[in-house]
Amino acid sequence: MMNTLTKELQFTVRGDERGSLVALESLCEQVPFEIKRVYYIFGTDPEAVRGKHAHHKLKQVLVCVSGACDIRMDDGKERKTVRLDHPAKGLYIEGLIYHEMLNFSRDCVLLVLADAPYDESDYIRDYHQFLKEVHL
Ligand code: TYD
Repeated sequence: MMNTLTKELQFTVRGDERGSLVALESLCEQVPFEIKRVYYIFGTDPEAVRGKHAHHKLKQVLVCVSGACDIRMDDGKERKTVRLDHPAKGLYIEGLIYHEMLNFSRDCVLLVLADAPYDESDYIRDYHQFLKEVHL
């Protein structure tokens, strides 16, 4: 399940002598959904662990546009940690993946593109509830 619900992404960098640019659009190869929400996390305490939830349905693309952090993922069977440490490196996560964000660098800005507006009813915050949903 981990391999169908998550994917590491490498974005095309358009660079020239002035520097670099990454462009992401709805329904492009790397963002396979209509972008309905953008949020970003910054100024995070390096000791903090964020996330600690799964979603029933939400699809998201995560990228550290500055700095680095770890994304720890769990599909109920396997665990995997991906370090996002470059603005050209992304991570696609959809649905029933319990995930945590941790080991934030002081300069980390974690940008997230999502396919739906914020909806608390889509969250599964309790790990045991998550395991129940996975095994339904
Ligand atoms: P929270 O779910 O704790 O963030 P994380 O999963 O990164 O640890 O969200 C923190 C607060 O921000 C909480 O009050 C909900 C609110 N929030 C929104 O209003 N809109 C959003 O898109 C997100 C992600 C959070």
